[in-house]
Amino acid sequence: MAQSMRQGYSGLQILLHWVIALLVLFQLVFGESMGAVGRAIERGETPDPTEQSLASAHYWVGIAILVLVMLRLILRAVQGAPAPIGNGAQLLIAKLIHGVFYLLLIAAPVTGLLAIYVNEEIGEVHEVAKPLFIAFIVIHALGAFLHHFKLKDATLRRMLVPK
Ligand code: HEM
Ligand code: HEM
Repeated sequence: MAQSMRQGYSGLQILLHWVIALLVLFQLVFGESMGAVGRAIERGETPDPTEQSLASAHYWVGIAILVLVMLRLILRAVQGAPAPIGNGAQLLIAKLIHGVFYLLLIAAPVTGLLAIYVNEEIGEVHEVAKPLFIAFIVIHALGAFLHHFKLKDATLRRMLVPK
């Protein structure tokens, strides 16, 4: 369906947006456990059990994000999505940030998997996801609040109420 034909996001699209956002937050807050466990193993030490559980969660939550993002992109292709509200530069910035998010949501789990199974040096690339995610989440959330409180349009509402 053409993007412009949709007035809002479906319930499933909204659910996926917020579930993925929460899972990403978890990854950003507890991600360092993964490195801590890796370093303990390299030193021949037994990793702290809490760090070990958090590292295991990091692995599975990361894979869940990858699967959910694939589902989200398939849904977007099938159901369509509304074009961002605004004009000119505003529209371009919104589209750019959404594109960067999809790229990060795929690149972070993929580089994480590559760091474990192919070459641990790729972990350095994987770690760059942290500052990038934080910067773009701040800009994205500020944009959403700007739309809601200043421009008073439907941008934030349509990511809360299905249409
Ligand atoms: C969207 C998904 C993911 C996000 C946002 C994410 C985020 C992070 C963060 C913030 C760190 C800590 C970086 C630091 O210490 O500065 C980290 C480390 C790590 N993550 Fe992920 N991660 C994701 C998915 C995955 C997946 C799926 C795997 C593997 C199956 C993985 C494997 C690792 C490894 C091995 C490290 C340690 C890297 C090192 O110390 O060199 N991550 N991740
Ligand atoms: C990890 C955190 C987040 C990620 C990865 C993320 C990602 C995305 C992506 C990719 C889109 C585009 C959806 C599409 O058209 O396909 C989107 C839309 C949206 N997001 Fe987020 N988001 C996050 C957090 C937030 C937060 C914290 C807020 C609010 C404070 C928010 C509010 C919105 C709104 C209102 C839209 C709809 C924009 C529009 O219709 O033009 N997001 N988000």
